Amino acid sequence: MDRLKGKVALISGGARGQGAAEARLFVSEGAKVVIGDVLDDQCRKTADEINTVVGAKSVIPLHLDVTRGSDWRAAVETCQREFSGLDILVNNAGVASGSGIEETTEEEWDSIVNINQKGVWLGMKHAVPAMRKRGAGSIINISSVAGLIGTGRAAAYHGTKGRSPPH
Ligand SMILES: NC(=O)c1ccc[n+]([C@@H]2O[C@H](COP(=O)([O-])OP(=O)(O)OC[C@H]3O[C@@H](n4cnc5c(N)ncnc54)[C@H](O)[C@@H]3O)[C@@H](O)[C@H]2O)c1
Repeated sequence: MDRLKGKVALISGGARGQGAAEARLFVSEGAKVVIGDVLDDQCRKTADEINTVVGAKSVIPLHLDVTRGSDWRAAVETCQREFSGLDILVNNAGVASGSGIEETTEEEWDSIVNINQKGVWLGMKHAVPAMRKRGAGSIINISSVAGLIGTGRAAAYHGTKGRSPPH
């Protein structure tokens, strides 16, 4: 399957979980992938595992804290330098807590909003200029059913996972 042949993807939170699964899938479809995460060792391990299976340097791991613009700038530069550009951004990194409105602390709220919301915006802000250079691009912001419903718990998580219609 070569549906992503010639494409370069940047996946945040790619060290484990869904982000690592997305990296495996994209590589199996022919893409080159940069995975960024704050879990540096796990990120390297995931990249090594995928590269060993495909027998090529298809995945590059790097340190990316999605709340830092300078990290995003460096991640996009890595895509351009190592793989010649950027076609796909997956804003996958996300964190959750089960706290309801009254139990949520300010620190918890700020941390979740910074990662789940500010991180998504920063990723788009830095990826779009690189995509314009290629003439096109795809941005996938990972939401959740928690963005569509409320449960009375996980107040900050629900608050950060709302989605706008595609455009
Ligand atoms: N697992 C589910 O059931 C589920 C359901 C709906 C939506 N989601 C969404 O899918 C995405 C991935 O979830 P998951 O279940 O794989 O979670 P996970 O915890 O396994 O993976 C999240 C990754 O994000 C990374 N991360 C956390 N803070 C970061 C930061 N500041 N900068 C960069 N990376 C950071 C973590 O280190 C981790 O590797 C999240 O956005 C989550 O909200 C998950």
